[in-house]
Amino acid sequence: MNASPLRFGRFELQAHERRLLVDGQASLGGRAFDLLHALAERPGRLVDKGTLMDLVWPGLVVQENNLAAQMSTLRKLLGTDVIATIPGRGYRFVARLESPGAAAVAAPPGSPAPPPAPALRTNLPGEPPALLGRADELAALGALIEHHRLVTVVGAGGIGKSLLTQHVLAARQALALYAHGVCWVELATVSDAAALPGTVAAALGLHVGHGDALAALVGAVSSLTMLLALDNAEHLLADVAALARALHDAAPGLRLVVTSQAPLRLAGEQVLRVGPLAVPEGPLPAAEALRFGAVALFAERARAVHRHFEISDPHVAAAIDVCRALDGLPLAIELAAARAPALGLPRLQASMQDRFALLTQGRDRMAPQRQRTLRAALAWSHALLAPPEQAVFRRMGVVAGSATLALLLQVLVRAELRTGRHAEGARPSRRPAGARARAPPRCRAARSFPPLPRTLPRRERRRPGRRSGGGARPAR
Ligand SMILES: Nc1ncnc2c1ncn2[C@@H]1O[C@H](COP(=O)(O)OP(=O)(O)O)[C@@H](O)[C@H]1O
Ligand SMILES: [Mg+2]
Repeated sequence: MNASPLRFGRFELQAHERRLLVDGQASLGGRAFDLLHALAERPGRLVDKGTLMDLVWPGLVVQENNLAAQMSTLRKLLGTDVIATIPGRGYRFVARLESPGAAAVAAPPGSPAPPPAPALRTNLPGEPPALLGRADELAALGALIEHHRLVTVVGAGGIGKSLLTQHVLAARQALALYAHGVCWVELATVSDAAALPGTVAAALGLHVGHGDALAALVGAVSSLTMLLALDNAEHLLADVAALARALHDAAPGLRLVVTSQAPLRLAGEQVLRVGPLAVPEGPLPAAEALRFGAVALFAERARAVHRHFEISDPHVAAAIDVCRALDGLPLAIELAAARAPALGLPRLQASMQDRFALLTQGRDRMAPQRQRTLRAALAWSHALLAPPEQAVFRRMGVVAGSATLALLLQVLVRAELRTGRHAEGARPSRRPAGARARAPPRCRAARSFPPLPRTLPRRERRRPGRRSGGGARPAR
């Protein structure tokens, strides 16, 4: 049992005294207190009803409505923002706990920041969904973080960067490798670069006051030994790079992991590129196809919508085809799988021509807006491109499947497009290792981009190169 009081908002939870203070007044005891304590000791984590009943009524057989009654008492006192109900599964403590040692670290202008808080809480998001088909990437990212202090996980929107990183961080947290813990900072909702240091400080449980927030933050973390993840950097890339550089240089005990659609391009940065989930190359029996990450994810998400959904042998080819049509992109597969039980696999397969219209619902309401539909995911990424890069994307639309870089350059390169940059999303297609040496690599845009008029010579209208296996490799 945690001996130090847990504080959140107007509340202080005193475990030894088994009481809750509201504005300093004792206001709750008994089972309702035990229930709150059980949840608050596991902030952000889903605690299922069975576990809660064991913790609150140890050794007793109680009915679920006792739990509901205590929960209702708690909500009357705490309001509705402290404990979230996860329907059919359990509860989660979602209020922000003040860290025991957190200190205000306002930096007077021009003066060095005060010393940091000695112990900071760990704030990984609650139990993430299972990670399917990413054994290699898990090992690769774990090894990079082990040996390097600045690692960027790069890949297309919806490819699974955040989920992979969460799993690696959770595993490393469990090993208790970092004296000051593991911290997760969500940047997707930060639209103003000036708010970056404050956002990181808030996630760490530090208050940076009104002075130079960056200087205060850098001062506060300089002596920490911790693993810090900055999730979703692409829309503020240059500013996140500057922040990462400052933190990295000031805090030798700090390890940074950044997820982003593009690398930060900093000296010493290690980049792990995350590719699509593995899709079978050809027809396979269902049992074998389900060993591929894309098909496994499809089946799992379809079953979440309809628990009797199964990919059987007669329909496995359609499921594989859908996964391939969606480029093995987990986000797109989740959206499609949610429609599978209602439509049936053959109709879903036939609808892939019109996937932007089809994949407009299916993810839970907690999912970020940019990931609710395939079009929203594309729009988020597309908006980050400079106009010449957007033009490159539009022109890539004439290529059905893959083409050689030489041909693409003929299509793409116009005076106004010579920017010296190449578009993210135009990536070499995966080929068997032996084939690479013989033929020049072919590039293609992910098929999840809207089709455009096809004006290329017929011989370039190939079917997309078939890919097997996801896999990640450090960028050169
Ligand atoms: N390997 C995987 N196994 C299970 N679900 C996955 C996997 N990869 C991604 N997902 C799911 O796909 C969606 C997009 O993944 P996310 O990590 O948010 O992508 P990114 O951070 O690259 O935009 C999320 O709902 C996530 O849970
Ligand atoms: Mg993400």
